[in-house]
Amino acid sequence: MQLRFLGHSAFEVKSSGGQTILIDPYLDGNPLAAVKSDQITADFIVVTHAHGDHLGDALKIARRCGSLLICVYELGSYLASKGFQTHNMHIGGAHDFAFGRAKLTIAWHGSQTPEGQYAGPAAGVMLWVDGSCIYHTGDTGLFYDMKLIGELNRVDYLLLPIGDNYTMGIDDAVKAVELVRPRVAIPMHYNTFGLIEADPEVFADKVRALGRECLVLQPGDTV
Ligand code: NI
Ligand code: MN
Repeated sequence: MQLRFLGHSAFEVKSSGGQTILIDPYLDGNPLAAVKSDQITADFIVVTHAHGDHLGDALKIARRCGSLLICVYELGSYLASKGFQTHNMHIGGAHDFAFGRAKLTIAWHGSQTPEGQYAGPAAGVMLWVDGSCIYHTGDTGLFYDMKLIGELNRVDYLLLPIGDNYTMGIDDAVKAVELVRPRVAIPMHYNTFGLIEADPEVFADKVRALGRECLVLQPGDTV
């Protein structure tokens, strides 16, 4: 399994079986992104919620590659009405795909289509690929049920926002690491635009003080 940070909250996961899964591919609107949407392909695209910096270029890529969009039911219904192929799930539910398993988690956040309609609740997603567990929290505030997620799962890579204002800031994200107890924490959703400025090295130092590993990835970096 290869995990590549594309910038903001966008990640690419490649399975050893050759499947490519994108999460929240916001690329063309982000000058800091590692790639443009036409430089990437996807078999599956997970969309945690419909805000523009998460739905991003998912539809452009799905149209070109015939990708299957994975998201909550309400957002899936909207996307299906636009002619896209979706796999609708909901919070707490898991499903086995060709690449491995996906499960949606709660996320304390909103979700709205580009036309301004409510798009169902925002979500986080857990992916199990080649024996590794990735937990992408989506956009969320801190919630204590992260402790339960950490108790029930051995999380290898915890991807979590640190930019504050719309999501957790650094100190709440450090608490999230303490609750989930991942092997590695990776910060996201910071410094892409105003209002979410944060120093990832401050976050990393605080995580390491807990005795946990933290990787600050630059767009394009792969683990
Ligand atoms: Ni959002
Ligand atoms: Mn966001």
